[in-house]
Amino acid sequence: MDVLQKCGGRKVVLAPMAGITDGSFCGKYRGLFGIVTLGALNLDSATLSASKEMVKRGRKEFLYNLDEFENIIKREVKRAKESNALISVNIRFKDFDDAKRRIEILGKHCDIIELNCHCRQREIVNLGIGQELLKRENLETLRDFLKGIWELEIEKPIFLKVRANVVSVEELIDNLNKVRKYFHGIHLDCFNPGKDYPDIGYIQKIRDCFKEKIIIGNNSINSIKDAKRMLRYSDLISVARCVLRGNIRWIYEFNRKVDNKDNKF
Ligand SMILES: Cc1cc2nc3c(=O)[nH]c(=O)nc-3n(C[C@H](O)[C@H](O)[C@H](O)COP(=O)(O)O)c2cc1C
Repeated sequence: MDVLQKCGGRKVVLAPMAGITDGSFCGKYRGLFGIVTLGALNLDSATLSASKEMVKRGRKEFLYNLDEFENIIKREVKRAKESNALISVNIRFKDFDDAKRRIEILGKHCDIIELNCHCRQREIVNLGIGQELLKRENLETLRDFLKGIWELEIEKPIFLKVRANVVSVEELIDNLNKVRKYFHGIHLDCFNPGKDYPDIGYIQKIRDCFKEKIIIGNNSINSIKDAKRMLRYSDLISVARCVLRGNIRWIYEFNRKVDNKDNKF
């Protein structure tokens, strides 16, 4: 698949971290990742206001003037390109019409558009978006968003960033099946409530049902061993907190093994 080829054999993705993964952060890791993810970026005034509330209670978020969006994106993408990776952008919005023009801008400058169906912060959940989009009762909204993005014909792959165990895997499969034609990839945080290891059973079932999609497996990957386990059920893997901790040497080693087509891999 095109995205996988363009990753140049690198299987590790830098996952989004609000207020942290800006262009400079992504650009620091030259040659390390197949994809780096900017965001989450707010594309409308409702989500920007929600972010301002989150900042007030101490959370890191990206705040900017929505009227200057295109210039900001050009600057951030230019910086992120120092990574030599594909540039994905994790997006949040409540009002598609308010966000539309900004999605078109992202389509011009980024390689992948990733719809955030993951955020569990109350300010976002109260808007009925983020992880709320995974629930059956919000399927119409998810469909409207995805169809809306699809119809913009931006010709860039559309991914969904999804948190496991917000709904049962059966419900998620059923819901995603109903919007199947509007997206290309699933970036799955195998969030395992109360556990510090990923729910591998969840991604296994998603892989089985969405064989034609690109799957990025995520959650608590800190070593080559963790990466290999996740890659049994995904095309790529992603990392967030281990990068914050500076635990990245294993990724260089992993890339070398993949490059050398090392049998042990
Ligand atoms: C500080 C922080 C901010 C995050 N912000 C976002 C976000 O804006 N959008 C999103 O989809 N995921 C976000 N995540 C989730 C990560 O992308 C990832 O799914 C999660 O941390 C699990 O991966 P890890 O075990 O490698 O950290 C965030 C995670 C952290 C730690």
